[in-house]
Amino acid sequence: MAVVSIIGTGNMGSAIADVVRRGGNTVELIGHGDSDKPVTGDVVVLAVYYGAVSDVVAQRGEQLAGKVVVDITNPVNTETFDSLVVPADGSATAEIAAALPQSRVVKAFNTTFAATLAAGTLGEQPTTVLISGDDADAKSLLAGIVTAGGLRAVDAGSLRRARELEALGFLQIGLAAGEKIGWTGGFAVVA
Ligand SMILES: NC(=O)c1ccc[n+]([C@@H]2O[C@H](COP(=O)([O-])OP(=O)(O)OC[C@H]3O[C@@H](n4cnc5c(N)ncnc54)[C@H](OP(=O)(O)O)[C@@H]3O)[C@@H](O)[C@H]2O)c1
Repeated sequence: MAVVSIIGTGNMGSAIADVVRRGGNTVELIGHGDSDKPVTGDVVVLAVYYGAVSDVVAQRGEQLAGKVVVDITNPVNTETFDSLVVPADGSATAEIAAALPQSRVVKAFNTTFAATLAAGTLGEQPTTVLISGDDADAKSLLAGIVTAGGLRAVDAGSLRRARELEALGFLQIGLAAGEKIGWTGGFAVVA
């Protein structure tokens, strides 16, 4: 059984915690006020906004060494809602990986709204978590946790594909904010 530490107890932190528990794995929730609580999981989900990641890295970077770190952020420019705040040829995940060179950083969950993690379905399709990263074992470990929790997991490629996942997440947010789709909807993956 894996222990999954989740930093951030908001919508996504709670929804991912339920997925992990449904699969029989153990959750350690770490809230904003838990600065004295050490991270003990082998897998650590950063369930915070991209703007808060640098604080988490500054506070807990050493604790994250050797761990699988899961970046779920959509680094949207919240002043304009018209661009991402990361370099156009990069990604939040690449920035986080550079800041945490001792960790195995993967991208996941950024293309699945919280409600679709809870529901387990998106329309007629199973909710699919797209995972990208350069460490095959890290992706496989996370995929096992996701599928045990009743969702589908698809390996979307290397860490460089995080850029496309963030573009997809950004587009999906724009569609929901513009009321073209609901926050219970989104992009499905049909195999
Ligand atoms: N919501 C979605 O459907 C969705 C889908 C895909 C991806 N995402 C991404 O998921 C991330 C979280 O989104 P969310 O909707 O779950 O936001 P949220 O409900 O606002 O939750 C964010 C959480 O982060 C906590 N936090 C902030 N700074 C922290 C720190 N330094 N240490 C520990 N916890 C800290 C907040 O605590 P306080 O309230 O105490 O500040 C809050 O509990 C974002 O990056 C977002 O882009 C969201």
